[in-house]
Amino acid sequence: METARLRFEPIDLAYLDGFHRIWSDHQTTQWSSRGVCKTIEETKGRISGILPDANRPGIDNYGVFIRPWTTESTTEMGPEDSQVIGIVGVHKDDPIPELGYIFHPSAWGKGYATEAVSAFVQHYFTIRPDAQLIEAKVDSKNLPSIRVLQKCGFDQMEILVGGAEQPWLDPPVRDLVVFRTTRKPRGD
Ligand SMILES: CC(C)(COP(=O)(O)OP(=O)(O)OC[C@H]1O[C@@H](n2cnc3c(N)ncnc32)[C@H](O)[C@@H]1OP(=O)(O)O)[C@@H](O)C(=O)NCCC(=O)NCCS
Repeated sequence: METARLRFEPIDLAYLDGFHRIWSDHQTTQWSSRGVCKTIEETKGRISGILPDANRPGIDNYGVFIRPWTTESTTEMGPEDSQVIGIVGVHKDDPIPELGYIFHPSAWGKGYATEAVSAFVQHYFTIRPDAQLIEAKVDSKNLPSIRVLQKCGFDQMEILVGGAEQPWLDPPVRDLVVFRTTRKPRGD
């Protein structure tokens, strides 16, 4: 899978160091229900839980990479960045596919998450013809993530007051905003 600026590789332990760079960052993982990965073994365990599995076809996760770039003035190709900048996918699909995404802070603010989520949603509805909707649950204070979902056409459904408990945040009892997007009718 590719977009104008990004390339997606099925999640794989081959990129363990890059994933650990993302999941070991406190700022990045503060909103995650499972928090930071303190050791590379913890990151390995987290990846192992979302690897492709023929018995769980609804689970579908990708490492996100930057494609070789072309400058507008010179058409010169820049080097492809082999470092994974983010992860996007569905990590849970029962009863509803639940979207997750996380990007390293060095990649924030460039529209990459919006580009990745938008492409992933389209891809997921293509490979899972039975899926009618995708859900995301976001901390009500996680404004960049809420913005990403809005930009990708998700609708706010409800607020789960006290829906999460994260001891490292203040206050630890958190409200979650539930967003959903639905399969769009085919244009033909
Ligand atoms: C959420 C996250 C993926 C966004 O990544 P990103 O690549 O910076 O996202 P984008 O650049 O595509 O879009 C971010 C949007 O949020 C906006 N934004 C950033 N900080 C904001 C803030 N404090 N308040 C309101 N909007 C904010 C940006 O302006 C941008 O919107 P715009 O295009 O309308 O200007 C990234 O911050 C991240 O990895 N966070 C930690 C993990 C996480 O929260 N995952 C989601 C769990 S549900």
